[in-house]
Amino acid sequence: MKNNFKVACLTGAGISAESGIATFRGMGGMWENHSIEEVATPYGYKKNPLLVWQFYEARRRQALTCKPNKGHLGLARLQNILGEENVTIATQNVDGLHQRAGAKNVLELHGSLWRVRCIKCEKESESFEFFDELPPKCNCGGMLRPAVVWFGEELPQAIFQEAYNKAESCNLYLVIGTSGVVEPAASLARVAANYGAAVWEINPEQSALTYLCQKSWRKKAGDAIEEVIEEILSVQNKF
Ligand code: OAD
Repeated sequence: MKNNFKVACLTGAGISAESGIATFRGMGGMWENHSIEEVATPYGYKKNPLLVWQFYEARRRQALTCKPNKGHLGLARLQNILGEENVTIATQNVDGLHQRAGAKNVLELHGSLWRVRCIKCEKESESFEFFDELPPKCNCGGMLRPAVVWFGEELPQAIFQEAYNKAESCNLYLVIGTSGVVEPAASLARVAANYGAAVWEINPEQSALTYLCQKSWRKKAGDAIEEVIEEILSVQNKF
């Protein structure tokens, strides 16, 4: 029997916390120790590309030392069980851990640490290497930048559109490890709710999206994911 039950997910920094990657907000969060303006805006990059690159190279090096955790692995398993066409993962994370856990068709709303783009010729490419010299250069001579979305920039349009379409057409929207305060990513959960999906959340704390949720697991993603998968499998026929 073909499965028509559709799950769409929005993940944030919290799902990678158990892998050892710092979240952004709150105590010890990345934005406590770094100025957003200096390291995550086009203005900051223009002013001091070296500082921005040092920040991203450190994040790349750290991400490589981390492994996907039970949360990432659980979502990849859910894709295997229900079919990858029925489970979409949109993430605000740039660490690539969903893919390393085996997840397919991950929609990277905020770009990736593992891609670079030339500010002159705009060519974008994968890049898993570490650069000898910072800021690195493109073959055309232009300066490369991390292909991540900075504050004040638009999200990659086609990727956001696909995440929007999946939010509009899913039965269940699963929000994991995000404070839900950064737009337009957070709006995807509202879109799903407006189109009639149930919204569930995994987050040890309340988030700005909690008010939309029929169910909230106040646990770490890795501790809750198997329970949530069981619950999804038990309710899928009721949708
Ligand atoms: P935040 O740092 O804003 O929020 C992390 C969320 O994860 C919080 O709600 C925590 O309670 C929750 N959390 C912590 N540990 C968890 C765990 N083990 N399991 C589940 N949840 C946990 O991170 P994001 O919401 O991802 O954007 O932030 C969104 C965007 O803001 C980021 O993509 C980044 C940032 O500025 C850009 O850089 C453009």
